[in-house]
Amino acid sequence: MKRSPKYLIYTFGCQMNERDSETLAGFCEKMGYEKAEGLHEADLIILNTCCVRANAENRIYGHLGNLKPLKEERPEVIIAVGGCMAQEPAERERIKAVHPHVDLIFGPQNLHRFPVLLERVLRGEGRVVEIDPGPGEIHEDLPVKRASNLKAWVTVMQGCNNFCAYCIVPYVRGRERSRRPEKILAEVEEVVAQGIKEVTLLGQNVNSYGRDLGPEGIDFAELLRRVDAVPGLLRLRFTTSHPKDLSDRLIAAMAECPTVCEHIHLPLQAGSDRVLARMNRQYTRARYLELVTRLREAVPGIAITTDIIVGFPGETEEDFQETLSMVREVGFDGAFTFAYSPRLGTKAANMDGQLPEEVKLERLYRLIEVVNEVSRAKNEELRDRVVEVLVEGPSERNPAVWCGRTRTNKLVLFPGPAKVGALLPVRITDPQTWTLHGVPAVS
Ligand code: 5AD
Ligand code: SF4
Repeated sequence: MKRSPKYLIYTFGCQMNERDSETLAGFCEKMGYEKAEGLHEADLIILNTCCVRANAENRIYGHLGNLKPLKEERPEVIIAVGGCMAQEPAERERIKAVHPHVDLIFGPQNLHRFPVLLERVLRGEGRVVEIDPGPGEIHEDLPVKRASNLKAWVTVMQGCNNFCAYCIVPYVRGRERSRRPEKILAEVEEVVAQGIKEVTLLGQNVNSYGRDLGPEGIDFAELLRRVDAVPGLLRLRFTTSHPKDLSDRLIAAMAECPTVCEHIHLPLQAGSDRVLARMNRQYTRARYLELVTRLREAVPGIAITTDIIVGFPGETEEDFQETLSMVREVGFDGAFTFAYSPRLGTKAANMDGQLPEEVKLERLYRLIEVVNEVSRAKNEELRDRVVEVLVEGPSERNPAVWCGRTRTNKLVLFPGPAKVGALLPVRITDPQTWTLHGVPAVS
């Protein structure tokens, strides 16, 4: 019997890309491919790329370089590059020029065209490149092969209208487009019927969901209420929220919907008003703190995580100190921290006051120390407390140690086995910076 061809997908970057890769996997399986166990048996290798920071790109170029000998040895292997880096003109030209072993290049807005483009490569057309520069539309009913059978990503909108001065996303993902609410609800109902317990609604800025839907559209607060009402769903999350668009209606919906988890990812980016204004974030430090107070009042025990950039052009030591003090003042449960990376074509790339790499890194290390100290203190509050854990299965490192997450999205390790997909009460015995260790509690 002829062996089925095998595919392998490498995903870089955000949850949007994770979700897009699930669609690529769905396409591959529909076309008769099976998932490869490793590079050695792959006939089709797809890199779903990210261009949000230079270090993501460097990793991807390293990866592409490593595939060169494989392509020389087995020229029939197809190498495809999709995602945001393919959409960015300078990077696309670099891929074309420096990596002749890439057979297919397609942008994030050409995802729905993947099977057609792959067919063209398979027919021997040579290198195929398709990038859609247009406004982009939402393509519904694409196949999907989900990475988990417990948790599902559901896209609610694509693109971003905000043009934060540092960010390349609006240039590569286009303007905001919201999915129709009935399509979102149908997808949630479908995954729940398949046994999914937790859904995360995805968008670059979910808080502006629905603004483009016209008079019969709904806002994100209403969408959350409708998804919450889907029978059988245990947990509902969403990401990412922009502080400028976080409405009282949304906070009320979070407080009132039983499945909505006590967690919000609310990117701060910087603690100084001067830097926030230069970043075009459209809120102040005081406004952010006010939102935190309101969230904590409405949703007791809510975990707040964030994204922070250090070394934005013109950031002084005093500005940076304001970021550090903000981390302590808010008491973040966790933060993704980044050194500013200039992105061609964005406003900040041409600003005065670009800082040397060593200044950015030195600030980054100081920030990470404070973030870790603060999140460790937050986790310490959970010592001896019983939390509800959605059981995921054995941990990667040790099959006797099982893992799952709290409603506040913290990773909990505990002695297994337990029922996968069940909600298990766990007593926290040893809270650490990034994980909580515990034992199942007798309830
Ligand atoms: N440099 C550093 N960090 C960036 N981010 C976005 N663009 C840049 C950049 N040019 C960070 C922001 C955003 C997260 C996804 O990535 O913090 O919230
Ligand atoms: Fe980028 Fe700002 Fe849009 Fe987020 S909200 S994707 S940081 S432009």
